[in-house]
Amino acid sequence: MKKRVVYSAIQPSGIMTLGNYIGAVKNWHELQANDNNSCIFALADLHTITVRQDPDALRRNTKSFLALLLAAGIDPSSSVVYIQSHVHEHAELAWLLNCYTYVGEMNRMTQFKDKSAKHSDNINMGLMDYPVLMAADILLYDSDVVPVGVDQMQHLEIARDIAGRFNNSYGETFVVPTGQLTKTGAKIMSLQDPTAKMSKSDPNPNAVISVLDSADDIARKIKRAVTDSGSEIVYDVENKPGVSNLLTILASAEGATIEDEVKRFKGKMYGHLKVACAEAVVEMLRPFRERYDALIADEGALLAFARDGAAKAEQIAARTLARAKDKIGFVL
Ligand code: TRP
Repeated sequence: MKKRVVYSAIQPSGIMTLGNYIGAVKNWHELQANDNNSCIFALADLHTITVRQDPDALRRNTKSFLALLLAAGIDPSSSVVYIQSHVHEHAELAWLLNCYTYVGEMNRMTQFKDKSAKHSDNINMGLMDYPVLMAADILLYDSDVVPVGVDQMQHLEIARDIAGRFNNSYGETFVVPTGQLTKTGAKIMSLQDPTAKMSKSDPNPNAVISVLDSADDIARKIKRAVTDSGSEIVYDVENKPGVSNLLTILASAEGATIEDEVKRFKGKMYGHLKVACAEAVVEMLRPFRERYDALIADEGALLAFARDGAAKAEQIAARTLARAKDKIGFVL
């Protein structure tokens, strides 16, 4: 039986937050463990330059994110793991797809509007074209399922529209992918404003846990996390966003359910929850951190994994690109 192709990517910029780890990367690890899936995971470095990147930082972050994925259990012998810019077919298919995408569609994208407002001095064509490059990423691999956070669902819809439009004009060429929302319980919020998502670009370092933070820093940040009025530990996102966020983090870190955690903390105080939460996160990240340190120390081996992954990715991508070029009428 043909396996389901699962495709996802993450931008190797800034830090990997606890939110990225619990919300995305741990989920990828579970998808990889399912024998029916054939998983492909990319570091979307081409996407990062839609906002200015310092060259040394981009190089450093890309290697670091690769080590982070491997440390999180993404296994290059069972999944394809690669750096997007190593596979030139992405940029090439993005150009082709550009000619089947309307300016009006891109103009309406929520992320484009948000980022344009945030970087009003650099509203470059790449920023507007971001969803088309993402569509190229996905369509190159005949992806069936694309796990994404809710903020990327609109881009996934556009990828489906572009694939469908191309297929309508030229006959079946691309697989129309299905988006899969990462589990809602796994959305990790800022520690300082639990009504906003934990974001790597948050200027307040106390709001965000990096998966590479020291145990002391993690404990300190969780201890200082904003909680809610009252003293009862209940899961109520509306009225107790801070406590609910800590419960989500704790349950994810321990692989338990939120209901179990609520039962366990009945009659206890916020302080108890914070201590348990900090311990659980530190314990979850300890072995991860050890693997990361070993991986990042051997750059030669790390880059060999990346080259290997790119070669596997390119085999698939080149075939899909040739199929599309043929349909369009390019002389092959
Ligand atoms: N835009 C995605 C994000 O920032 C990353 C990404 C790039 C992606 N290409 C993709 C995700 C293809 C899924 C599929 O989160």
